[in-house]
Amino acid sequence: MKHAVAAATLALFAAFPAAAQFAKPTDAVKYRESAFKLMATHFGRINAMAQGKVPFDAKAAQANAEVLSVLAKLPWDAFPAGSNVGNTEAKPEVWSQPDKFKTGAQQLMDNVAKLDAAAKAGSLDQLKAAAGAVGKSCKSCHEAFKKD
Ligand code: HEC
Repeated sequence: MKHAVAAATLALFAAFPAAAQFAKPTDAVKYRESAFKLMATHFGRINAMAQGKVPFDAKAAQANAEVLSVLAKLPWDAFPAGSNVGNTEAKPEVWSQPDKFKTGAQQLMDNVAKLDAAAKAGSLDQLKAAAGAVGKSCKSCHEAFKKD
């Protein structure tokens, strides 16, 4: 019985368009800002190793890259139309240039996948290169779509 309920709940979530998952536009803002904060935390831990600020720990790099891979998928459905509200730092271009924004999001996810592969390979050199590419993805999107 429990299983049946869980399956039904899963099916329900899968069927819902992402935007409908937020009761209020400000909930979407909170969600995406939380996702970005967590991304910054986990990427920051990897970046510290890539930049030699903390010793390279292959296991820790791998664990953080795994979490980052999931986190990097989260913010994008939390920019529904009408959510340019509250204390958002998003520029209106997020909604007026959706294709460019999506491309930036996809680039980040692609680069995070490479970072995850580098972390799994346990190579600091690969990790450095991949972390540099991820950092560039963050930066270039912020320049176009985030207020300072
Ligand atoms: C495709 C565009 C895009 C990419 C890629 C991107 N960001 Fe952002 N980021 C945004 C936008 C837009 C906001 C503003 C969100 C808001 O306030 O509603 C933001 C906000 C943030 C914030 C502030 C969250 C808060 O507390 O309000 C942090 C931190 C952040 N991003 C970190 C990162 C990091 C780290 C990466 C790369 C690993 C990254 N972002 C990649 C677009 C992007």
